[in-house]
Amino acid sequence: MRRKLAAGNWKMNGTTDALVQVKALTDAHPDPDVDLLLCPPATLIAQMAWARGTHALQIGGQDCHAADSGAHTGDIAAAMLKDAGASHVIVGHSERRADHGETDADVAAKAAAAHAAGLIAVICVGETLTQRDAGEALQVVTTQLKGSLPEGATAANTVLAYEPVWAIGTGRVPTTDQIGEVHGSLRGTLRDLMREAEGVRILYGGSVKGSNAAEIFSVADVDGALVGGASLTAADFGPIITAL
Ligand code: G3P
Repeated sequence: MRRKLAAGNWKMNGTTDALVQVKALTDAHPDPDVDLLLCPPATLIAQMAWARGTHALQIGGQDCHAADSGAHTGDIAAAMLKDAGASHVIVGHSERRADHGETDADVAAKAAAAHAAGLIAVICVGETLTQRDAGEALQVVTTQLKGSLPEGATAANTVLAYEPVWAIGTGRVPTTDQIGEVHGSLRGTLRDLMREAEGVRILYGGSVKGSNAAEIFSVADVDGALVGGASLTAADFGPIITAL
């Protein structure tokens, strides 16, 4: 049985003022029966780890470098995220793939670095609207998954997130049939790639809100959500957690 995961990706949003949301979230969900994860900007990880107190809230980075250390100005190593209080790191988000030209091989190297540092890698895949309209969605996410999953991936150190690019921040959400088709296909690909495929959680991401969460979570092989905009406040994130 896979434990449900509600994950929030704050992206490039939030300064210390935003940490008030951590208390609001942990107060509202003192003993959640799902896993909670927030991925703030790296600048807030250590303070968020302090702000959560004894709550089981987990904290993640939004990217890491594939190298352990060295001359990589502006980058952050996985071990640094871990040292700051993170247990997870998102790798291969479509915004990183688009803005920074990250390839599947880059993502696999980052995920391997995360694993080596003892972090859980949240590996993102997802097709663009052009690719979906061309009937290529399944082929695209299969290729991304095969290229982005590192050697040594297990159910314990890896989470997969399906985020159709056209649904991110747009208010457009795929139908439950479309989500089910992709998640089922990703599960099948995982079975081909690793022994512990049944234990890997596959999150859906893209315009998840309190109003659509229950319907999305009813789809087979949807084990939780990776939420952007609606994870920024406890008021918006709370109903999504409750729907899981
Ligand atoms: O990583 C989460 C994300 O890309 C989805 O963003 O704002 O559509 O929930 P949003």
